[in-house]
Amino acid sequence: MKGIILAGGHGTRLHPVTLGMSKQMLPVYDKPMIYYPLSVLMLAGITDIQIISAPQDRASFQRLLGDGSRIGLNLSYAEQDEPRGLAEAFLISSRHIGDDPVALVLGDNIFHGPGFGDLLRQQVRDVDGCVLFGYRVHDPERYGVGELDARGRLLSLEEKPARPRSNLAVTGLYLYDNDVVDIAKNLRPSERGELEITDVNRIYLDRGRARLVPLGRGFVWLDAGTHDALTAAGQYVQILEHRQGVRIACIEEIAWRMGFIDQETCHRLGAELASSPYGRYIVDVVTADA
Ligand code: DAU
Repeated sequence: MKGIILAGGHGTRLHPVTLGMSKQMLPVYDKPMIYYPLSVLMLAGITDIQIISAPQDRASFQRLLGDGSRIGLNLSYAEQDEPRGLAEAFLISSRHIGDDPVALVLGDNIFHGPGFGDLLRQQVRDVDGCVLFGYRVHDPERYGVGELDARGRLLSLEEKPARPRSNLAVTGLYLYDNDVVDIAKNLRPSERGELEITDVNRIYLDRGRARLVPLGRGFVWLDAGTHDALTAAGQYVQILEHRQGVRIACIEEIAWRMGFIDQETCHRLGAELASSPYGRYIVDVVTADA
């Protein structure tokens, strides 16, 4: 399966912070925001990943992550010149996707919860049509909303409905078979002028090939798109990391645990960053758990 991280947009809700840099580059406590969605794809076992950004931000993502080979990935870069909708990702990345299934994750979404890696790998193995992940929120009208029947079958999907039929928000992580490219090619822009991911998902739903997997209440899903949400996400990561002594979304550790790089390489990558607590953590964890 191929991966895409959509890290474009103007970040207007974070102005003036994002006037000079990409939102997805901002720190969420101890690491750049994009590390979190990148970790999600890595935990799913995906190593061939394209990062889509605004043209002016491409160079900084490349400087941060390079071609990915240091952590056993194959990273490529593409540009979206204007935020014309999430579903445009499948058009921009159609060559990257080729004939494969694909996972799309939004660059400002943060997922954390027990057993997430196992869940992801299982869903990636079983993907047939489209797999969405639902999360209970108190303000579903801000999101795509899914409605399930008593047996957990997906009944409806709506984008930011005024009167939501459930509290289940559709999170910014989507798994698709290869049909998604053709579906995206035939989409028309919505009233707000965007190629809507919810329209893609509805086509799968109409074909009886969409599932929504609810993430349980012990799970955390955050987006970091406003000043308050960004601060709250940073505090969540800080509290957890301090309390437990583990790090969330440490891409070097994940690369090692997933078998993308060996212990020696991981140790070296940590040593290169050893003047930061993040780097020292990598050295410690790879030494202790070896
Ligand atoms: O976060 C999950 C939600 O994401 C879903 O529940 C909704 O169904 C989906 O439409 C989307 O809703 P948002 O209104 O939150 O999307 P937003 O326009 O804020 O874009 C999400 C991220 O994607 C944001 O970091 C900017 C980036 N983006 C957005 C668009 C429209 C792009 O890179 N390119 C784009 O064209």
